[in-house]
Formats: sequence, C-alpha cells, structure tokens
Amino acid sequence: MLIDKLIIGAYIEARSCERFAKVAPYLDEELRKFYISLLRSEARHYQDYLKLAAAIAGGDISDRIKAIGEKEAELIQAPDDMFRFHSGVPTLAANQLTSHGYT
Ligand SMILES: [Fe+2]
Repeated sequence: MLIDKLIIGAYIEARSCERFAKVAPYLDEELRKFYISLLRSEARHYQDYLKLAAAIAGGDISDRIKAIGEKEAELIQAPDDMFRFHSGVPTLAANQLTSHGYT
C-alpha cells in the first residue's frame, strides 16, 4: 500500500535525522555544519513523506503512523541475521549478549 510505503520512508528519513543529530556534536566544526545541513534535509524529507501520505489518503493517517512505529520498535529490538543500516540487533551480537546474561 502506497501510504504505508510513504510512512515507512518518513520513518527512515526521521531516523537518519536522529543519527545526524547524535553524531554532529562530536565532529569538528566544518563536518558538524555539514552534518547539521544533512539533518535539516532529512527533517524536511520525513515531513514531505508524511504530507504526501496524508494528501493521498485524504484524511488522518495517525493510526497508520502509530502502527508502523510500533512495528519498527519491534523490529529494532529483534535479532536480525543481516547487519544493515536500518536493521535490528545483529544475531551474532544478540547471541553474545544472551550468553553473557545481558538479556
Ligand atoms: Fe533523505
């Protein structure tokens, strides 16, 4: 469904925005300014995705945003066989944490 794809795109953009915000304070001034410019771009992108989704839906999409956010949270916390930028906990790391009694 197109609206869900747009909302998922918005979450991906928003998470990138969050990552740039977390990293920026630790960078030298030139790189920090660059990361902050990326952060602002990503913030616009996630808002654009949500505006487009709402326009196509023709109404309130907050229930879908909430449902997809809940699924995202579940996936982020679940072990994942593949290590990707937007993946959950890598299986190897999850197994090591479990074997050391951290879960
Ligand atoms: Fe983006």
